[in-house]
Amino acid sequence: MTSVEINSMSEAFYSHARLYDLMFPGGEPAVDFYRTSADRQGGRVLELGCGTGHKLIPIASAGHPCVGLDFSPDMLAEAQRKANERGVAVEWMQGDMRAFDLGRTFDFVFIAANSLLHLHEAEDLVSCFRSVRQHLAPGARFVFDVFNPSVRLLAEADGVRRTRESLAFMDPDRGNVSVDVAEIYDAHAQVTRGTWHLSAESDPDFVIAPLEIRSIFPQELPLLVSLGGLRLVERFGDWSGRPFAGDTPLQLCICESA
Ligand SMILES: C[S@@+](CC[C@H](N)C(=O)[O-])C[C@H]1O[C@@H](n2cnc3c(N)ncnc32)[C@H](O)[C@@H]1O
Repeated sequence: MTSVEINSMSEAFYSHARLYDLMFPGGEPAVDFYRTSADRQGGRVLELGCGTGHKLIPIASAGHPCVGLDFSPDMLAEAQRKANERGVAVEWMQGDMRAFDLGRTFDFVFIAANSLLHLHEAEDLVSCFRSVRQHLAPGARFVFDVFNPSVRLLAEADGVRRTRESLAFMDPDRGNVSVDVAEIYDAHAQVTRGTWHLSAESDPDFVIAPLEIRSIFPQELPLLVSLGGLRLVERFGDWSGRPFAGDTPLQLCICESA
């Protein structure tokens, strides 16, 4: 692994890789979508912001040569541990998706689960798309999913700490863990700035970590993609393949080299 220095408000959040997996289990429709897309494309697969390998390990299990790039050493270590446990080979690399050069091309590149939204500057998003383009083999596809910003939900981010019942989980070491989040929306930056609190009965606030997520609005998305030398071929609104619309939860984007 090469080392990389990143000034990220979300780094501390991802230094708790095992807790991350406990907090966000499931996600089968997304795994199925990416695995089916990789199968349809065939060949080599690259995931940027691969985390603990939630999508990439199942894809590698299907026989694709896979590379996973992430800046968090803790997420990568957990990914490696899980892949070893399942006897699956994946090349895990520490790196920054804003600019990377792996010296080879891939048939399928993807960025899942809002990972792209850790890039807040428009220049960083374009630079990421340019790096992706350099890594696309002829006929390759690039797919990413980001949420569809809801003005109503963004406006509800008032800085008040609230419990998210749906994220509570059982930690074998600590028992029941509750998750509280306080968020404000910075409209100028288009970034939701949150502070996440994880508490166990005997250990309140054992994690306090910032997490900052950009919104990409529907009209700017194709422009950013095209500035990166890519073409948005299709945009779905959910995992079933419903067309993107104002009220769909996702922007699930299928891109090619322009
Ligand atoms: C929401 S998690 C998603 C993980 C995984 N893709 C999944 O679907 O479960 C976001 C991941 O993006 C990574 N990340 C954030 N900024 C990054 C950057 N600039 N370069 C590479 N990875 C980054 C984080 O370390 C984290 O593992």
